[in-house]
Amino acid sequence: MPVLSGTSRLAGVCGWPVAHSRSPRLHGFWLQRHKINGAYMPLAVAPENFTTAIRGLVAAGFQGTNVTQPHKLAAFAICDTVHDSARRAGAVNTLIFRDGKITGRNTDGWGFVAHLRGSGVDPKAGPALILGAGGAARAIVAALQDEGVPVSIANRTRARAEELARELPPLKVLDWDDRSAALADHALLVHTTSQGMHGHPPLEIDLSRAPSSMAVADIVYVPLETPLLAAARARGLRCVDGLGMLLYQAIPGFSEWFGVTPQVDDELRRFVASDLIGEK
Ligand SMILES: NC(=O)c1ccc[n+]([C@@H]2O[C@H](COP(=O)([O-])OP(=O)(O)OC[C@H]3O[C@@H](n4cnc5c(N)ncnc54)[C@H](OP(=O)(O)O)[C@@H]3O)[C@@H](O)[C@H]2O)c1
Repeated sequence: MPVLSGTSRLAGVCGWPVAHSRSPRLHGFWLQRHKINGAYMPLAVAPENFTTAIRGLVAAGFQGTNVTQPHKLAAFAICDTVHDSARRAGAVNTLIFRDGKITGRNTDGWGFVAHLRGSGVDPKAGPALILGAGGAARAIVAALQDEGVPVSIANRTRARAEELARELPPLKVLDWDDRSAALADHALLVHTTSQGMHGHPPLEIDLSRAPSSMAVADIVYVPLETPLLAAARARGLRCVDGLGMLLYQAIPGFSEWFGVTPQVDDELRRFVASDLIGEK
């Protein structure tokens, strides 16, 4: 932790609870690497205190904050300006304070696409199939559509996928039971459910219909190598793990708050991943 001064720049992450957040470790790494006169703090803010806490941070001269559960929807209401990225993703994860005004963005979808590119996968190589229709799926669908990628979606609860399709057209809804057969028509598979996460059963899918050129991305990052990625690797498919999305999504906020655009590299990956080992 650096010694702060009267001119230190301050940011943080608001969540309830916030103890599980990797953001202080991640931003702390970049602050040290770039020798920045600043700090990034965990901010445990109960839902009923969210507005008071954010107004207080603005008044105290913070540069902004990340916003995590359960505040991602409440954060809309407090913004003076909301980026299209947040509107389309249906959630705000980054607040930027300037001259007493609050701007809200969502960087999850951008982070996902930046990580794909960083892994050597061209998102525009062909149609993408998204499994899951939760908050993360929505941000990813919007970001891939913004890249001009045709997107299909399958979710266990079909109605939820259909609701997303109404909000983010054109989005093709497929039956959850058809997910294995549908692989043949796609260049990219993105898994966004909680299946395969530590303590959850693996995603059930048969990869035998996947084209040999398919890239398989799993946004679950505990464990780093999910059963899905292990199966994809065994078939010789290109694999993209979930940690990169977490790291890349932090770049725009850090850059706005601290004035330096940081890099995602192996040293950062190792530093953040070492904190995930053995996690329940
Ligand atoms: N890498 C990253 O930076 C990053 C960022 C955000 C989230 N994530 C990870 O992504 C996952 C989803 O997060 P989220 O915020 O989108 O969660 P969410 O909004 O709660 O959505 C959960 C999704 O998982 C599906 N699901 C849950 N149990 C299932 C089961 N047994 N079989 C099939 N589908 C099931 C749900 O389907 P139903 O609609 O049918 O319930 C829904 O589509 C989590 O593991 C989270 O850790 C990673």
